[in-house]
Amino acid sequence: MEKNIFWQSTNVTSTDREKLMQQKGCVLWFTGLSGSGKSTVALEVEKKLIQNNRFTYLLDGDNIRHGINSDLSFSPEDRKENIRRIGEISRLFEDAGLITLVSFISPYRKDREVVRNKIGTDRFIEIFVDCPLAVCEQRDVKGLYKLARDGKIKDFTGISAPYESPENPEIHLKTAEMTIEACTENIFDYLKSKKIIR
Ligand code: ADX
Repeated sequence: MEKNIFWQSTNVTSTDREKLMQQKGCVLWFTGLSGSGKSTVALEVEKKLIQNNRFTYLLDGDNIRHGINSDLSFSPEDRKENIRRIGEISRLFEDAGLITLVSFISPYRKDREVVRNKIGTDRFIEIFVDCPLAVCEQRDVKGLYKLARDGKIKDFTGISAPYESPENPEIHLKTAEMTIEACTENIFDYLKSKKIIR
């Protein structure tokens, strides 16, 4: 479709912002089953980054679905749109220089791949929050697995909708075996090794 729109270049670049902020913008993309610990780890990492005087922003699926994505369901098409929008939003935050933490189930490999390609593989850090379904279901923090098993929620990830594990994540956290401190340290070590933080 011909749209008659042009790209407006800017006076201030992301490199200028990075100099000012003394950090590189990036996206920490947490993916995993509901109840796997994505948000728990993301919250802890964000807290520690702020304590270290780093600039961050957290985008969390449950919260975003109350606002900009409140029009979306859990069908494959709507999940794709959910991830597309968050991919675009996280790209803006990353470009703004922020360490952007994104916590969404994001069950489809293809949808995550599209975001990775958009952001660039050096700035997109996929974190597989890996926890066996049985453990997530046993925790059932929000009581949703029970409802899904009883057929009261349809298309529930892990029960009646698929979850496609990352094949090559930058970081792999086994949250049933690791402590929250170990998970956080793992992520910090990665950020330091890539010189995203010092
Ligand atoms: S995603 O699949 O589109 O990435 P998202 O992370 O935004 O999902 O939202 C997941 C959250 O929505 C879950 O943590 C859970 O609280 C809630 N939820 C409600 N219905 C479903 C469902 N059918 N499948 C998965 N999560 C659901």
